[in-house]
Amino acid sequence: MHLTNLEERMLGGEEGYAVQKNMQILAALGDIFGAEKMIPVSSVQVAGVSYYNLGDAGLEYLETLADRGAKARLKTTLNPAGMDLENWRELGIEEEFARKQERVIQAFVKMGVIPSCTCTPYLVGNEPRRGDHIAWSESSAVTYANSVLGAMTNREGGPSALAAAITGRTPAYGMHIEENRKPQVRVKVESKLTAVPEFGALGYAVGKKIGPKIPSFEGIRGAPVEQLKSLCASIATYGGTALFHTYEETQSPKEVPAETLTVTRADIDGALRALNDETAEEVDFIALGCPHCTLVEIKKIAELLEGKKVRREFWICTARQTMKEAEKIGYAAKIRTAGAKFACDTCMAVAPLKGRFSVLATDSAKACYYGRGTNNFKTRIGSIEECVSAAVTGKWSY
Ligand code: F3S
Repeated sequence: MHLTNLEERMLGGEEGYAVQKNMQILAALGDIFGAEKMIPVSSVQVAGVSYYNLGDAGLEYLETLADRGAKARLKTTLNPAGMDLENWRELGIEEEFARKQERVIQAFVKMGVIPSCTCTPYLVGNEPRRGDHIAWSESSAVTYANSVLGAMTNREGGPSALAAAITGRTPAYGMHIEENRKPQVRVKVESKLTAVPEFGALGYAVGKKIGPKIPSFEGIRGAPVEQLKSLCASIATYGGTALFHTYEETQSPKEVPAETLTVTRADIDGALRALNDETAEEVDFIALGCPHCTLVEIKKIAELLEGKKVRREFWICTARQTMKEAEKIGYAAKIRTAGAKFACDTCMAVAPLKGRFSVLATDSAKACYYGRGTNNFKTRIGSIEECVSAAVTGKWSY
Protein backbone atom coordinates (compact mmCIF):
# COMPACT_ATOMS: atom_id res chain seq x y z
CA MET A 1 0.00 0.00 0.00
CA HIS A 2 1.26 3.45 -0.87
CA LEU A 3 1.74 5.64 2.20
CA THR A 4 2.44 9.37 2.17
CA ASN A 5 5.49 10.73 3.95
CA LEU A 6 3.37 11.71 6.92
CA GLU A 7 1.78 8.26 7.09
CA GLU A 8 5.22 6.65 6.93
CA ARG A 9 6.30 8.83 9.83
CA MET A 10 3.21 7.86 11.80
CA LEU A 11 3.96 4.20 11.18
CA GLY A 12 7.60 4.73 12.16
CA GLY A 13 6.60 6.11 15.55
CA GLU A 14 7.50 9.77 15.02
CA GLU A 15 4.05 10.87 16.20
CA GLY A 16 4.15 8.75 19.33
CA TYR A 17 3.13 5.33 20.55
CA ALA A 18 -0.64 5.66 20.14
CA VAL A 19 -0.49 6.95 16.57
CA GLN A 20 2.02 4.26 15.63
CA LYS A 21 -0.03 1.41 17.10
CA ASN A 22 -3.19 2.62 15.39
CA MET A 23 -1.45 3.17 12.08
CA GLN A 24 -0.23 -0.42 12.33
CA ILE A 25 -3.83 -1.59 12.73
CA LEU A 26 -4.92 0.34 9.65
CA ALA A 27 -1.92 -0.73 7.56
CA ALA A 28 -2.61 -4.38 8.41
CA LEU A 29 -6.28 -3.95 7.49
CA GLY A 30 -5.33 -2.24 4.25
CA ASP A 31 -2.99 -5.13 3.36
CA ILE A 32 -5.67 -7.74 4.11
CA PHE A 33 -8.25 -5.99 1.93
CA GLY A 34 -5.89 -4.92 -0.85
CA ALA A 35 -6.12 -1.15 -0.30
CA GLU A 36 -3.80 0.89 -2.49
CA LYS A 37 -3.65 3.88 -0.17
CA MET A 38 -5.06 5.58 2.92
CA ILE A 39 -7.72 8.26 2.63
CA PRO A 40 -8.53 11.06 5.09
CA VAL A 41 -11.84 10.71 6.91
CA SER A 42 -14.07 13.55 8.11
CA SER A 43 -16.16 11.77 10.75
CA VAL A 44 -15.82 8.76 13.03
CA GLN A 45 -18.36 6.77 15.03
CA VAL A 46 -16.94 4.15 17.39
CA ALA A 47 -18.81 1.01 18.48
CA GLY A 48 -17.66 -1.33 21.21
CA VAL A 49 -18.56 1.07 24.02
CA SER A 50 -20.62 -1.13 26.32
CA TYR A 51 -18.63 -2.68 29.14
CA TYR A 52 -21.01 -5.63 28.72
CA ASN A 53 -19.29 -6.37 25.40
CA LEU A 54 -15.82 -4.96 26.11
CA GLY A 55 -15.10 -6.67 29.41
CA ASP A 56 -11.93 -5.93 31.37
CA ALA A 57 -9.65 -6.62 28.39
CA GLY A 58 -11.40 -3.96 26.30
CA LEU A 59 -11.41 -1.49 29.17
CA GLU A 60 -7.68 -1.99 29.69
CA TYR A 61 -7.02 -1.52 25.96
CA LEU A 62 -8.85 1.81 25.98
CA GLU A 63 -7.27 3.07 29.18
CA THR A 64 -3.80 2.18 27.93
CA LEU A 65 -4.38 4.06 24.68
CA ALA A 66 -5.71 7.08 26.58
CA ASP A 67 -2.77 7.03 29.01
CA ARG A 68 -0.29 6.77 26.15
CA GLY A 69 -1.54 10.00 24.60
CA ALA A 70 -4.06 8.85 21.98
CA LYS A 71 -6.15 11.78 20.71
CA ALA A 72 -8.97 11.91 18.20
CA ARG A 73 -8.03 14.24 15.32
CA LEU A 74 -11.55 14.79 14.09
CA LYS A 75 -15.20 14.68 15.12
CA THR A 76 -15.65 11.30 16.79
CA THR A 77 -18.77 10.11 18.58
CA LEU A 78 -19.71 6.87 20.34
CA ASN A 79 -22.22 4.09 19.89
CA PRO A 80 -24.55 3.30 22.82
CA ALA A 81 -22.93 2.31 26.11
CA GLY A 82 -24.15 -0.40 28.48
CA MET A 83 -26.22 2.02 30.54
CA ASP A 84 -27.80 5.44 30.77
CA LEU A 85 -24.79 7.44 31.91
CA GLU A 86 -26.84 9.56 34.32
CA ASN A 87 -29.86 7.50 35.19
CA TRP A 88 -28.42 4.00 35.38
CA ARG A 89 -29.82 3.20 38.81
CA GLU A 90 -33.39 3.72 37.66
CA LEU A 91 -32.77 1.25 34.84
CA GLY A 92 -31.62 -1.40 37.31
CA ILE A 93 -27.91 -1.38 36.45
CA GLU A 94 -25.55 -2.77 39.12
CA GLU A 95 -23.06 -0.41 40.79
CA GLU A 96 -20.03 -2.52 39.84
CA PHE A 97 -21.02 -2.53 36.16
CA ALA A 98 -21.67 1.23 36.28
CA ARG A 99 -18.22 2.00 37.66
CA LYS A 100 -16.53 0.00 34.89
CA GLN A 101 -18.75 1.59 32.24
CA GLU A 102 -17.87 5.04 33.57
CA ARG A 103 -14.16 4.20 33.21
CA VAL A 104 -14.75 3.22 29.57
CA ILE A 105 -16.38 6.59 28.90
CA GLN A 106 -13.65 8.47 30.77
CA ALA A 107 -11.01 6.78 28.62
CA PHE A 108 -12.81 7.86 25.45
CA VAL A 109 -13.25 11.40 26.78
CA LYS A 110 -9.54 11.56 27.62
CA MET A 111 -8.90 10.73 23.96
CA GLY A 112 -11.05 13.68 22.87
CA VAL A 113 -14.03 11.59 21.81
CA ILE A 114 -17.48 13.18 22.22
CA PRO A 115 -19.50 10.93 24.54
CA SER A 116 -22.78 11.24 22.68
CA CYS A 117 -23.57 7.55 22.85
CA THR A 118 -26.00 6.91 20.04
CA CYS A 119 -26.51 4.76 16.97
CA THR A 120 -28.22 7.70 15.26
CA PRO A 121 -25.33 10.19 15.28
CA TYR A 122 -26.80 11.70 12.10
CA LEU A 123 -29.72 13.04 14.18
CA VAL A 124 -27.57 14.80 16.74
CA GLY A 125 -24.73 16.62 15.06
CA ASN A 126 -22.53 13.97 13.46
CA GLU A 127 -24.01 14.15 9.98
CA PRO A 128 -21.62 13.66 7.08
CA ARG A 129 -22.33 15.05 3.64
CA ARG A 130 -22.76 13.20 0.36
CA GLY A 131 -19.41 11.88 -0.87
CA ASP A 132 -17.61 12.27 2.47
CA HIS A 133 -15.27 9.44 3.44
CA ILE A 134 -15.98 8.48 7.03
CA ALA A 135 -15.23 5.59 9.43
CA TRP A 136 -18.33 4.46 11.29
CA SER A 137 -18.89 1.24 13.18
CA GLU A 138 -22.49 0.62 14.10
CA SER A 139 -24.12 -1.38 11.34
CA SER A 140 -27.43 0.52 11.08
CA ALA A 141 -25.62 3.86 11.17
CA VAL A 142 -23.14 2.66 8.54
CA THR A 143 -25.98 1.58 6.24
CA TYR A 144 -27.82 4.86 6.84
CA ALA A 145 -24.68 6.90 6.12
CA ASN A 146 -23.98 5.03 2.87
CA SER A 147 -27.55 4.67 1.63
CA VAL A 148 -29.43 7.73 2.82
CA LEU A 149 -26.74 10.35 3.39
CA GLY A 150 -24.53 9.25 0.49
CA ALA A 151 -21.36 9.20 2.60
CA MET A 152 -18.81 6.40 2.15
CA THR A 153 -17.87 4.06 4.96
CA ASN A 154 -17.02 0.45 5.59
CA ARG A 155 -18.53 -1.26 8.58
CA GLU A 156 -15.63 -0.67 10.93
CA GLY A 157 -14.89 -2.62 14.05
CA GLY A 158 -14.50 -0.57 17.22
CA PRO A 159 -10.67 -0.65 17.17
CA SER A 160 -10.38 0.25 13.47
CA ALA A 161 -12.82 3.15 13.85
CA LEU A 162 -10.87 4.41 16.84
CA ALA A 163 -7.66 4.01 14.82
CA ALA A 164 -9.22 6.19 12.11
CA ALA A 165 -10.01 8.82 14.74
CA ILE A 166 -6.45 8.78 16.10
CA THR A 167 -4.73 8.89 12.70
CA GLY A 168 -7.38 10.75 10.68
CA ARG A 169 -7.28 8.03 8.01
CA THR A 170 -8.73 4.76 6.83
CA PRO A 171 -7.53 2.31 4.17
CA ALA A 172 -9.25 2.89 0.81
CA TYR A 173 -11.12 -0.33 0.07
CA GLY A 174 -14.69 -1.66 0.03
CA MET A 175 -17.33 1.04 0.29
CA HIS A 176 -14.75 3.80 -0.24
CA ILE A 177 -14.37 2.72 -3.88
CA GLU A 178 -17.15 3.90 -6.21
CA GLU A 179 -16.94 0.74 -8.31
CA ASN A 180 -17.87 -1.40 -5.28
CA ARG A 181 -21.06 0.57 -4.59
CA LYS A 182 -23.04 -0.45 -7.66
CA PRO A 183 -26.43 -2.11 -7.09
CA GLN A 184 -26.44 -5.86 -7.56
CA VAL A 185 -30.09 -6.82 -7.08
CA ARG A 186 -33.19 -4.95 -8.23
CA VAL A 187 -35.77 -5.27 -5.43
CA LYS A 188 -39.35 -4.48 -6.39
CA VAL A 189 -41.44 -3.81 -3.29
CA GLU A 190 -44.98 -4.50 -4.45
CA SER A 191 -46.71 -3.94 -1.14
CA LYS A 192 -47.31 -0.44 0.21
CA LEU A 193 -45.40 -0.25 3.48
CA THR A 194 -46.35 2.31 6.10
CA ALA A 195 -45.47 1.17 9.62
CA VAL A 196 -41.93 1.03 10.98
CA PRO A 197 -42.04 -2.74 11.73
CA GLU A 198 -42.94 -3.36 8.08
CA PHE A 199 -39.69 -1.71 7.05
CA GLY A 200 -37.89 -3.94 9.54
CA ALA A 201 -39.69 -6.89 7.98
CA LEU A 202 -38.60 -5.72 4.53
CA GLY A 203 -34.96 -5.70 5.69
CA TYR A 204 -35.43 -9.15 7.20
CA ALA A 205 -37.04 -10.62 4.06
CA VAL A 206 -34.54 -9.10 1.64
CA GLY A 207 -31.48 -9.60 3.85
CA LYS A 208 -32.25 -13.29 4.30
CA LYS A 209 -32.54 -13.73 0.53
CA ILE A 210 -29.64 -11.68 -0.85
CA GLY A 211 -27.15 -11.61 2.03
CA PRO A 212 -24.52 -8.88 1.65
CA LYS A 213 -25.32 -8.02 -1.98
CA ILE A 214 -26.28 -4.39 -2.64
CA PRO A 215 -29.99 -3.99 -3.39
CA SER A 216 -31.69 -1.24 -5.34
CA PHE A 217 -35.20 -0.79 -3.97
CA GLU A 218 -38.19 0.24 -6.02
CA GLY A 219 -41.35 1.19 -4.18
CA ILE A 220 -40.13 2.86 -0.99
CA ARG A 221 -39.64 6.36 -2.33
CA GLY A 222 -40.23 9.15 0.16
CA ALA A 223 -39.94 6.94 3.24
CA PRO A 224 -39.20 9.13 6.30
CA VAL A 225 -36.18 8.76 8.52
CA GLU A 226 -38.01 6.55 11.05
CA GLN A 227 -38.77 3.94 8.39
CA LEU A 228 -35.40 4.18 6.69
CA LYS A 229 -33.41 3.73 9.91
CA SER A 230 -35.49 0.64 10.68
CA LEU A 231 -34.76 -0.77 7.23
CA CYS A 232 -31.05 0.04 7.60
CA ALA A 233 -30.86 -1.73 10.96
CA SER A 234 -32.73 -4.78 9.76
CA ILE A 235 -31.09 -5.35 6.40
CA ALA A 236 -27.62 -4.95 7.91
CA THR A 237 -28.50 -7.42 10.68
CA TYR A 238 -30.21 -10.11 8.64
CA GLY A 239 -28.26 -9.77 5.40
CA GLY A 240 -25.03 -7.91 6.11
CA THR A 241 -25.12 -5.26 3.40
CA ALA A 242 -23.70 -1.85 4.25
CA LEU A 243 -25.46 -0.06 1.39
CA PHE A 244 -28.70 0.01 -0.53
CA HIS A 245 -29.97 2.25 -3.27
CA THR A 246 -33.45 3.52 -3.83
CA TYR A 247 -33.89 3.07 -7.55
CA GLU A 248 -36.15 6.01 -8.26
CA GLU A 249 -33.81 8.49 -6.64
CA THR A 250 -30.31 7.35 -7.44
CA GLN A 251 -30.16 5.02 -10.41
CA SER A 252 -30.11 5.55 -14.12
CA PRO A 253 -31.89 2.86 -16.20
CA LYS A 254 -28.49 1.71 -17.45
CA GLU A 255 -27.56 0.64 -13.94
CA VAL A 256 -30.52 -1.65 -13.34
CA PRO A 257 -29.11 -4.99 -12.15
CA ALA A 258 -30.12 -8.15 -13.99
CA GLU A 259 -30.93 -10.05 -10.79
CA THR A 260 -34.42 -9.19 -9.58
CA LEU A 261 -36.29 -9.92 -6.37
CA THR A 262 -39.95 -9.13 -5.83
CA VAL A 263 -41.24 -8.52 -2.31
CA THR A 264 -44.96 -9.08 -1.80
CA ARG A 265 -47.31 -8.60 1.14
CA ALA A 266 -46.92 -12.32 1.86
CA ASP A 267 -43.14 -11.83 2.29
CA ILE A 268 -43.67 -8.95 4.74
CA ASP A 269 -46.30 -10.86 6.71
CA GLY A 270 -44.06 -13.94 6.74
CA ALA A 271 -41.16 -11.93 8.14
CA LEU A 272 -43.37 -10.42 10.85
CA ARG A 273 -44.61 -13.89 11.78
CA ALA A 274 -41.02 -15.15 11.99
CA LEU A 275 -40.13 -12.33 14.40
CA ASN A 276 -43.19 -12.94 16.62
CA ASP A 277 -43.21 -15.69 19.21
CA GLU A 278 -46.91 -16.44 18.91
CA THR A 279 -47.06 -18.29 22.22
CA ALA A 280 -45.85 -15.30 24.24
CA GLU A 281 -49.01 -13.59 25.47
CA GLU A 282 -47.61 -11.90 28.57
CA VAL A 283 -45.00 -9.21 27.90
CA ASP A 284 -42.62 -8.04 30.63
CA PHE A 285 -40.30 -5.65 28.78
CA ILE A 286 -41.15 -3.08 26.14
CA ALA A 287 -38.32 -1.29 24.36
CA LEU A 288 -38.63 1.23 21.54
CA GLY A 289 -35.77 3.04 19.84
CA CYS A 290 -33.73 0.55 17.84
CA PRO A 291 -32.16 2.50 16.21
CA HIS A 292 -32.53 5.34 18.71
CA CYS A 293 -35.87 7.17 18.66
CA THR A 294 -36.36 10.41 16.79
CA LEU A 295 -38.29 13.29 18.31
CA VAL A 296 -41.24 12.36 16.08
CA GLU A 297 -41.34 8.87 17.58
CA ILE A 298 -41.06 10.27 21.12
CA LYS A 299 -43.94 12.65 20.41
CA LYS A 300 -46.09 9.75 19.30
CA ILE A 301 -45.21 7.68 22.39
CA ALA A 302 -46.01 10.67 24.63
CA GLU A 303 -49.39 11.16 22.98
CA LEU A 304 -50.27 7.49 23.30
CA LEU A 305 -49.24 7.40 26.96
CA GLU A 306 -51.05 10.56 28.03
CA GLY A 307 -53.39 9.80 30.92
CA LYS A 308 -52.24 6.16 31.16
CA LYS A 309 -49.99 4.15 33.47
CA VAL A 310 -47.64 1.44 32.29
CA ARG A 311 -47.59 -1.89 34.12
CA ARG A 312 -44.36 -3.20 32.67
CA GLU A 313 -40.78 -2.00 32.34
CA PHE A 314 -40.86 0.31 29.32
CA TRP A 315 -37.68 1.81 27.85
CA ILE A 316 -37.49 4.54 25.25
CA CYS A 317 -33.97 4.35 23.89
CA THR A 318 -32.69 7.57 22.42
CA ALA A 319 -29.78 9.98 22.24
CA ARG A 320 -29.50 12.20 25.30
CA GLN A 321 -29.71 15.29 23.10
CA THR A 322 -33.01 14.07 21.64
CA MET A 323 -34.38 13.38 25.12
CA LYS A 324 -33.43 16.93 26.17
CA GLU A 325 -35.42 18.29 23.22
CA ALA A 326 -38.33 16.10 24.33
CA GLU A 327 -38.04 17.59 27.83
CA LYS A 328 -38.21 21.14 26.48
CA ILE A 329 -41.35 20.43 24.50
CA GLY A 330 -43.09 18.55 27.30
CA TYR A 331 -43.13 15.05 25.76
CA ALA A 332 -40.72 13.68 28.36
CA ALA A 333 -42.94 14.69 31.28
CA LYS A 334 -45.91 12.84 29.78
CA ILE A 335 -43.80 9.74 29.27
CA ARG A 336 -42.37 9.79 32.78
CA THR A 337 -45.74 10.50 34.37
CA ALA A 338 -47.03 7.33 32.74
CA GLY A 339 -44.16 5.39 34.32
CA ALA A 340 -42.13 4.75 31.16
CA LYS A 341 -38.38 5.44 31.27
CA PHE A 342 -35.90 7.05 28.97
CA ALA A 343 -32.84 4.92 28.34
CA CYS A 344 -30.42 7.51 26.97
CA ASP A 345 -26.87 6.61 25.87
CA THR A 346 -27.77 2.91 25.77
CA CYS A 347 -30.15 0.36 24.28
CA MET A 348 -31.94 -2.93 24.86
CA ALA A 349 -29.15 -4.85 23.08
CA VAL A 350 -26.00 -3.53 24.74
CA ALA A 351 -27.27 -3.11 28.33
CA PRO A 352 -26.79 -6.11 30.67
CA LEU A 353 -30.35 -7.46 30.59
CA LYS A 354 -29.91 -11.21 30.40
CA GLY A 355 -32.10 -12.95 32.95
CA ARG A 356 -34.11 -9.84 33.86
CA PHE A 357 -36.98 -10.31 31.41
CA SER A 358 -38.64 -13.07 29.39
CA VAL A 359 -40.64 -11.41 26.61
CA LEU A 360 -39.61 -8.28 24.73
CA ALA A 361 -42.13 -6.19 22.79
CA THR A 362 -40.63 -3.81 20.26
CA ASP A 363 -41.19 -2.22 16.87
CA SER A 364 -37.70 -3.20 15.67
CA ALA A 365 -36.67 -6.30 13.72
CA LYS A 366 -33.09 -5.74 14.83
CA ALA A 367 -34.08 -5.58 18.50
CA CYS A 368 -35.79 -8.96 18.02
CA TYR A 369 -32.52 -10.40 16.73
CA TYR A 370 -30.52 -9.26 19.75
CA GLY A 371 -33.35 -9.89 22.18
CA ARG A 372 -33.39 -13.49 21.12
CA GLY A 373 -29.71 -14.05 20.43
CA THR A 374 -28.06 -12.12 23.24
CA ASN A 375 -30.68 -12.21 25.96
CA ASN A 376 -32.79 -15.32 25.26
CA PHE A 377 -35.99 -13.24 25.22
CA LYS A 378 -39.08 -14.25 23.32
CA THR A 379 -40.10 -11.39 21.06
CA ARG A 380 -43.20 -9.59 19.89
CA ILE A 381 -42.95 -7.05 17.08
CA GLY A 382 -45.58 -4.45 16.28
CA SER A 383 -46.26 -0.76 15.83
CA ILE A 384 -45.61 1.88 18.49
CA GLU A 385 -49.36 1.74 19.26
CA GLU A 386 -49.19 -2.02 19.81
CA CYS A 387 -46.10 -1.73 22.00
CA VAL A 388 -47.62 1.05 24.14
CA SER A 389 -50.76 -1.04 24.57
CA ALA A 390 -48.62 -3.98 25.72
CA ALA A 391 -46.88 -1.73 28.25
CA VAL A 392 -50.21 -0.60 29.65
CA THR A 393 -51.93 -4.01 29.76
CA GLY A 394 -48.96 -6.34 30.14
CA LYS A 395 -50.32 -8.42 27.29
CA TRP A 396 -49.72 -8.73 23.57
CA SER A 397 -53.17 -8.57 22.11
CA TYR A 398 -52.72 -8.25 18.33
FE1 F3S B 1 -28.92 1.02 18.08
FE2 F3S B 1 -28.82 -0.79 19.93
FE3 F3S B 1 -30.47 -1.07 17.92
S1 F3S B 1 -27.09 0.23 19.02
S2 F3S B 1 -29.46 -0.07 16.22
S3 F3S B 1 -30.55 0.54 19.48
S4 F3S B 1 -29.25 -2.68 18.83
